Amino acid sequence: MTISRRNFLRSLGAGAAAGAATYWPVPGVAKPVALEPSRTEPQTGSFIRLNSNENAYGPSPKVAAAIVAAVGSANRYPFAEYKSLTERIAGFHNVKPEQVLLGCGSSEILRVAACAFLGAGKQLIQASPTFEAIEHYARTAGSEAISVRLASSYAYDLDGMLARANATTTLIYICNPNNPTASLTPRKDLETFIGKLPASTFVVIDEAYHHFVNRSGSYASFIDRPLDDERVIVTRTFSKVYGLAGLRLGYAVASPKVVEQMRNFVTEVSLNAIVTPVAAVALDDAGGVSDAAQRNADDRQEFCNQASARRLRPIDSHANFLMMNTSHPAEEVIRYFRNNNILIGRPFPAKDTYIRVSLGRPEEMRAFWRIWDTLPFPKDSMPH
Ligand SMILES: Cc1ncc(COP(=O)(O)O)c(C=O)c1O
Repeated sequence: MTISRRNFLRSLGAGAAAGAATYWPVPGVAKPVALEPSRTEPQTGSFIRLNSNENAYGPSPKVAAAIVAAVGSANRYPFAEYKSLTERIAGFHNVKPEQVLLGCGSSEILRVAACAFLGAGKQLIQASPTFEAIEHYARTAGSEAISVRLASSYAYDLDGMLARANATTTLIYICNPNNPTASLTPRKDLETFIGKLPASTFVVIDEAYHHFVNRSGSYASFIDRPLDDERVIVTRTFSKVYGLAGLRLGYAVASPKVVEQMRNFVTEVSLNAIVTPVAAVALDDAGGVSDAAQRNADDRQEFCNQASARRLRPIDSHANFLMMNTSHPAEEVIRYFRNNNILIGRPFPAKDTYIRVSLGRPEEMRAFWRIWDTLPFPKDSMPH
């Protein structure tokens, strides 16, 4: 991996800023917005954690065994493994190794995309609400971030985004399925949209929740069915279906030229010696992935059943979390759950009466509904 000293120091600076700045201002919103709430506050202890869209069951047995087996390499830098894992991921997706960039979680890839394509005088366009990390990185890079509300179907308002795009729009962030709504934007609409963008606009398509999409003719991954377009950067993570959020690995698939451009900004050796061999085992474990996706679908159905029994209607979910309207200030609902030792998702400014609930294990979800039933708010006013 070649990296200039100047770029290396720059990327360290951006990373340090990202780590420290858990909160940042959003125009039109009085209070600062949290990336993930209180990442620096203690969250362990007796809390039930339904707030970060993790895989509550952890990695598959094969992957767990690989983690144990990898302990002996913890004293070594994973230099050689970086190359072999890049090749493994490239082979898995049927692309060239030069098209793959690894990162310390897909969060690092989002930061790197912002460093590579944004800066003063350049603008990011994203949806609202969405996963705000890239907005934070855009602002850190000195860019403006424009947020366009989701359509009433919870798909992206692509016409609205197009209307805001101009020659300074160098990056667009599409999260599909979208966090926090878990909703899909149809593939054909995205293709048309990308085709109409200015030639200098790059598009990040964040497929963190790809494996949880319900069978749907309107969805296709941009890795599995790539566009012949150098401006498209697709991101994936091992944090969700693979259950490896704590081991921090994500990657981008893009054109060799774009990967080279982004590589200048990755942190030197941002991977660890445990995750490199483990990720290869996870990719090979197709059974583990389909079991996790099926279990998630079952848990999601059970959530919908429980919601329906309470005459609640969550947004149709294609992910491992659900969002629903409580018709009550979300911050108060979140606080009530927290006071009862359950962490649910942070407030999202554009949806201030909605809560986002990550799916947990069955006993954790039973606890969630038990506390829900004790909420001291009038439930009659909730939308049916
Ligand atoms: C849409 C989306 N993208 C990226 C990430 C970052 O994931 P990681 O850095 O663990 O790969 C998350 C985390 O929740 C997410 O929801």
